[in-house]
Amino acid sequence: MTIKALVFDAYGTLYDVQSVAAVTDEAFPGHGEMISQIWRMKQLEYTWLRSLMGRYEDFEVITRDTLTYTLSVLGLKPSAGIFDRIMDKYVHLDLYPDAKDALAALKGYKLAILSNGSTDMLNALVRNTGLDKILDATISIDSKRIFKPSPQAYMLIEEQLGVKPNEVLFVSSNPFDACGAKAFGLNVAWIERVTPEAMALECKTTDMVRPLTMFRAMRMQMDQFGLEPDHRVKGLSGLPAVLAAK
Ligand code: LAC
Repeated sequence: MTIKALVFDAYGTLYDVQSVAAVTDEAFPGHGEMISQIWRMKQLEYTWLRSLMGRYEDFEVITRDTLTYTLSVLGLKPSAGIFDRIMDKYVHLDLYPDAKDALAALKGYKLAILSNGSTDMLNALVRNTGLDKILDATISIDSKRIFKPSPQAYMLIEEQLGVKPNEVLFVSSNPFDACGAKAFGLNVAWIERVTPEAMALECKTTDMVRPLTMFRAMRMQMDQFGLEPDHRVKGLSGLPAVLAAK
């Protein structure tokens, strides 16, 4: 089957969610890493919990609520200005260094984002980082009012791009998302940024497990759902080789 479209997850895949550490650490010196990890873990959890409860709120609300949660459990009291400055990083996240070149190398395919992000957040982020000039579409799950990995979210690809699931290569670094897309019937390339070997080494050589190590163990290693991504690539620049081999 010929691949016609590449559809990317946004946060963690094209955009480095860890880049929030610059602002969290500036706001609360010494706490940045802890804030960043709790915030991202809770942000994802809230998407799943709200989906299960049937109490949808968009990703901007969830991102705000989970930042409030995080600072509060750590006993940190931000001024309104600091809170907004941290939130603002979510529309100015750093692209992974290989993202722009990788997308440029994929010209000829339909290129899109399918993200749990809200429409407004995603449009701002894509515009602020110049991807609006490269992507054919930026699709938010907002219209479905349920988050990935719900099958309803992945349905948006065919509905909005007009390509069948087997004509799509879905690209995500988030294991839950790679599994969700695979369960739905998309071809999946998982961006494996931390290999199991690197993970094991990191745990072995660290006396006290860092919050970031914990995050890598919990959110960046392949899950055990009996669903294997079709391809494992170490970075976005590995995608042309995947397509050439198909
Ligand atoms: C997204 C989250 C899952 O971009 O990273 O959809």
